[in-house]
Amino acid sequence: MRTALVAGNWKMNGSTDFINELMNDLTANINASNVDVLVCPPAVYLSQVKTLTGSTVSLGAQTVSEQANGAFTGEISLTMLQDLGCEYVILGHSERRSLYAETDALVADKFIATVASGLKPILCVGETLEEREQGKTIEVVGRQLKAVVDAAGIDKFADAVIAYEPVWAIGTGKTATPAQAQDVHAEIRAIIAEYDTAAAAATRIVYGGSVNASNAAELFANEDVDGGLVGGASLKANDFIAICHAAGA
Ligand code: PGA
Repeated sequence: MRTALVAGNWKMNGSTDFINELMNDLTANINASNVDVLVCPPAVYLSQVKTLTGSTVSLGAQTVSEQANGAFTGEISLTMLQDLGCEYVILGHSERRSLYAETDALVADKFIATVASGLKPILCVGETLEEREQGKTIEVVGRQLKAVVDAAGIDKFADAVIAYEPVWAIGTGKTATPAQAQDVHAEIRAIIAEYDTAAAAATRIVYGGSVNASNAAELFANEDVDGGLVGGASLKANDFIAICHAAGA
């Protein structure tokens, strides 16, 4: 039985005051003993959010360096994230891949370092609209996933979460239909099963891309959709609370 997970990816949004208000609303309204709920603020606000998470909300980061420490100006290490109380880190988000040139190989390096540190990776995969229209969805998602599994080993997926995020659905208001999401999630699970059937059954696969308070329940009702990675709607307390409730919190 997989525990549902709902993660809020705040991206480059927020301020001290905004975060105080949002976190107070979330912790007052989310009773997440049966659902893992986490928020992923910009790194500069991780310490502040940690003081506000209470017992029901966990902390995640949006990216991390694959390097341990040293002369890497602007980067943030896994040790630092741990020091601030992070449990999860999002890896290979499509914005990192497309805007900051993160390759499959770099994402694999980050995944390996993350697992070695004890943090839990949320590995993002997903196709562009053009790739979907060319019928290449599974080819692209499979390539992104296998690049990490082949480099890290399937045994490193015990605590990993996979986020299927079709690029055409991110921030666009065009959500994948429940059937589209379920189809790709089942394919992802089948790819993992090629390596290890127990890992395939245990790994959480969450959906991301314009999840909102109205569509969350029908997305999460699918057999292979184990929750969501939520961008825009995670910045609105009522919407994020409703999405967490749709996952069973
Ligand atoms: P969105 O973003 O919910 O705003 O589409 C999702 C994501 O990028 O993780």
